[in-house]
Amino acid sequence: MTRILGIETSCDETAAAVLEDRSTVLSSVVASQIDAHSKYGGVVPEIASRRHIEAIGPVLREALEKADTTLDEIDAVAVTYGPGLIGSLLVGVATAQSIAWQRDLPLIAVNHLEGHVRSVFIEYPEIAYPALALVVSGGHTSLYLCPEEGRYELMARTRDDAAGEAFDKVAKLLGLGYPGGPVIDKLAVDADENAIEFPRTVMKDRSLDFSFSGLKTAVRTLVQKRDLGHELPTGGEASDEVRDIVASFQKAAVDQLLNRTLAIARRENVKSLLVTGGVACNSRLRRACQELAEKEPFEVYIPAPKYTTDNAAMIAAAGFLYYDRGEFAPASLRADSGLKL
Ligand code: KG4
Ligand code: ZN
Repeated sequence: MTRILGIETSCDETAAAVLEDRSTVLSSVVASQIDAHSKYGGVVPEIASRRHIEAIGPVLREALEKADTTLDEIDAVAVTYGPGLIGSLLVGVATAQSIAWQRDLPLIAVNHLEGHVRSVFIEYPEIAYPALALVVSGGHTSLYLCPEEGRYELMARTRDDAAGEAFDKVAKLLGLGYPGGPVIDKLAVDADENAIEFPRTVMKDRSLDFSFSGLKTAVRTLVQKRDLGHELPTGGEASDEVRDIVASFQKAAVDQLLNRTLAIARRENVKSLLVTGGVACNSRLRRACQELAEKEPFEVYIPAPKYTTDNAAMIAAAGFLYYDRGEFAPASLRADSGLKL
């Protein structure tokens, strides 16, 4: 029986979790900072790192208590060391280093993006390869081909905004609050998603990379033309017109995510499609993925929402890969904000 303590502080969630034997989650605690950042319409790095410092101790204690365990029963500490906000990452890395040093435990360095991919394995430990993983969050929109466990080949990425960032910016320009993804998801229910035909993004070089800035600009132009936005107080009632706009935007964003994904999944003849990251909470995307699963020859796996948004269970889950291979980080591990997968 192996227990790994996972720590995640790459953006605006302070998280700790205890996993036993790859997929039994004994605890997963996430302290969100949304309240601290919402009035700025996005994450403020200075505030995020200060909040992490305040939260990390209580979050760790709660994760151990909920798992009904102590550090004496932990076998390794896995921590996100990038990519992310450097000041935020430093808090998690320094915390993991001091626990590992004090308890003489192996330290495992986890790439946040690999954490998102591995989040699927918490609920679905047996997945057929080759698999295609769509990581779609506030900071990333990438497609990785996984020929086998632990190997990742970048197939497509966003050339500008991440999908979640586009949701956040569209919500902001309509005064709908932060983070925009969940707000738009809710407002779009029962709205007319065919009300506006937003332009489909096609790359000039015919690559399958993503791009969301054109779509965002199209929404902004429409909002300015119709003189919307400024009249909507944050959190106020949205009109039917606004609901139709966000539903149409959501449809265009989901369509783009899926047409790229489907083209690569077919080209690479994958057996599994994994959809992870905060935007994988989106109900329209989840529904469209289920429909895909019925038509296509591959299986589709989307984690429960609590594992798709940033959390530490996925970091511990990725940690097991390294633990099983005996690959540990040096005590001098440094955070790397621009880390690639
Ligand atoms: O994975 P995550 O928690 O943090 C990052 O690594 O970025 O993702 C956060 C992003 C935000 O941009 C948020 O708006 C988006 O995920 N998001 C959603 C939904 N829930 C969260 N986007 C669309 N629909 C949702 N239901
Ligand atoms: Zn993330």
